[in-house]
Amino acid sequence: MNLSIEYSVSIQHIVQRYKPLRVNETMAHLLIKFGGGLITNKDKMMSANREAINNLAKTTSILLAQNHHVTIVHGAGSFGHLKAKKMRLALGADGSILNQQIAAVSEVRNDMELLNSIICQSLAENGSKTKSHPPSIWANGTGPDFEGDLTRFSKIDPNSINITFGDVVDCNEPKKFGILSGDDLMVRIAKEIEGISHVVFLLGDTEGVMTAPPNDPKAELIDTWKIGDVLQGLHQGEMDVTGGIFLKVNSAELIAQSVNDVWLIDGRKPERVIDLIENGVTIGTRVTA
Ligand code: IPE
Repeated sequence: MNLSIEYSVSIQHIVQRYKPLRVNETMAHLLIKFGGGLITNKDKMMSANREAINNLAKTTSILLAQNHHVTIVHGAGSFGHLKAKKMRLALGADGSILNQQIAAVSEVRNDMELLNSIICQSLAENGSKTKSHPPSIWANGTGPDFEGDLTRFSKIDPNSINITFGDVVDCNEPKKFGILSGDDLMVRIAKEIEGISHVVFLLGDTEGVMTAPPNDPKAELIDTWKIGDVLQGLHQGEMDVTGGIFLKVNSAELIAQSVNDVWLIDGRKPERVIDLIENGVTIGTRVTA
């Protein structure tokens, strides 16, 4: 028997098992927003984009397999904006249509729970367990100063992803209710939960922030956005009750004050998130202080 070969094989085995982490292998904690325009077909009432969701779930499972932590916030798209717009839920209680509004509040909450369950199911099919935190049961008020106990997101279980979403929430009188955007949740979670290293907004129809609206052939990707830069754009007022790309950029700017890696990335190509974690850079817009 050739002992020296056996010895060197087993030493190699030990060295491989215990090799120290290289700097670029440090675990990341990603806070990712699945934009509503990405995970739903925006103009078709309550239509989930299952292919996009499945691709996101696959990307998430790769990140978890690489030992990174992931926290997910998702938007509403056609599961929230259309009814909310019709019943003016973002503006709060309106005496002339209050009964219809109250019915719409619970309908939109149910619709959002349904969208959340579709996403969680896809994550489960790809091997990732989730713990959902519907804001309607723990948050009050709208905008980045909403009230609610965010410590629920600091309990990190490597086997289960915390997930929350834009929702209809209770508000103080006289408003009674309003729409809390996933973008505002992103700001507060990014700022208050320790250890978040990367914040990524995944978009449905653009590679990042563009020099012109994305359907303009002259539109070019802005790869670095400095806080205070000014955006040229087209607000999707037709269906968006929370503020579209403007709110995303604004939220990203607030986050960039405390997190180093803040990105807006094309969610139709979620592999770019892996690229970012592995190489420190990818195609998209990086928002910096
Ligand atoms: C909106 O949440 C929530 C509702 C309309 C109920 P977001 O503002 O996070 O949704 P998207 O990403 O723009 O669809």
